[in-house]
Amino acid sequence: MGVERVRLTCTINGEPREVDGLWEGESLLHVLRERLALPGSKNACEQGECGSCSVYLDGELVCSCLVLAGQAEHRDIVTVEGLGADGDLHPIQQAFLEAGAVQCGFCTPGLIVATHDLLGRNPSPTDPEIREALAGNLCRCTGYEKILDAVRLAAARP
Ligand code: FES
Ligand code: FES
Repeated sequence: MGVERVRLTCTINGEPREVDGLWEGESLLHVLRERLALPGSKNACEQGECGSCSVYLDGELVCSCLVLAGQAEHRDIVTVEGLGADGDLHPIQQAFLEAGAVQCGFCTPGLIVATHDLLGRNPSPTDPEIREALAGNLCRCTGYEKILDAVRLAAARP
């Protein structure tokens, strides 16, 4: 019996996309990185524990490693690549750079998407609110203080 192949039809970063030949059980993260050349979402744990693969699915922050490609059918996905306009850095990305919150950078895309989600809901978060919002995003390098600085900086900007 052959392996069933699946087609995914969805919108990614505002563009209709169709991907054929997915295997059953393939994650959205794998589709983004390996089939659609969108490597911004990182693959660190594949278990929903590090947040490095965070994307929006119909406006909701999710770990794309935990989303089956089939669950994304006819849905709207926004990745870190979709946040900046016309190749420019998004102001949150700029704030992370300026605050020195990027070291190896592996956690950064997930943190950028999670910060974008936080500031969309709460433009002036307190430190505890920032910590809570980013609690699912692990960073092995920075000790988190510079990440907090970056979020504060992004929040302070118009
Ligand atoms: S790779 Fe998805 S949460 Fe870690
Ligand atoms: S900057 Fe290296 S894991 Fe966060």
